[in-house]
Amino acid sequence: MRTPLVMGNWKLNGTKESVKALVNALTTPANEAAPKAEVAVCAPAVFIGMVEDLAKDSKLQWGSEDCDIHTSGAYTGENSPVMLKEFGCTYAIVGHSERRDYHKESSEYVAQKYKAAQDNGLIPVLCVGESEAEFDAGKTMDVVREELKAVIDLCGIESFKNAVIAYEPIWAIGTGKTATPEIAQNVHKDIRDFLASFNAEVADGVRILYGGSCNAKTAPELFSQKDIDGGLVGGASLKADDFSAIIKAAVDNA
Ligand code: 13P
Repeated sequence: MRTPLVMGNWKLNGTKESVKALVNALTTPANEAAPKAEVAVCAPAVFIGMVEDLAKDSKLQWGSEDCDIHTSGAYTGENSPVMLKEFGCTYAIVGHSERRDYHKESSEYVAQKYKAAQDNGLIPVLCVGESEAEFDAGKTMDVVREELKAVIDLCGIESFKNAVIAYEPIWAIGTGKTATPEIAQNVHKDIRDFLASFNAEVADGVRILYGGSCNAKTAPELFSQKDIDGGLVGGASLKADDFSAIIKAAVDNA
């Protein structure tokens, strides 16, 4: 039995004022009355301490949008998993397509981030997904398998007992072109089958979130699919009403 997880990825957005308003809205009794689903927000590093102060006595969880492979040292501009843990992060997103693309992060490097997060008590949220050209060429699972395999090679299949996977087709991110529930479910099932070829129990237990234009309208049907265990939400996680509706969709489908 997998508990649904709805996670916001704020990306490079927010002000002190908007963060306060959003976290306050997400820690109201209505959103907290969600014993059947977990809710988390991943914030720009500069806001994480603020989120901790605002959310520490609530059920809302929080995390970072990335983390470095090192715990400390001469790595200007990076964020250490140890520091993120000290500020109460539960999760660290690793391998988001925006980082793979704009920062040229390879699957092997992402696997090192996944390991650093896990070694220091954070739950990695491993993002995988194909570009539009790869989708059109029918290469989705080739891409996704390669991204998963890099982690399995470095950390082992058992590491997925303490990790989350987010399937985010790049062509659906920020485009309003949500993957249909059928497309998403098929890929989620293929991901689970691939993991099951290494360890069936681990594959059955791991949460696989869908991300890419997941919003109040598309979430209910997406979340009703057997292998979709919640969402990783970008744009719609910045608006309390939209994100609350997505949380409700997860609770209704739990
Ligand atoms: P959107 O929900 O804005 O499409 O972003 C998805 C995403 O990239 C979450 O990590």
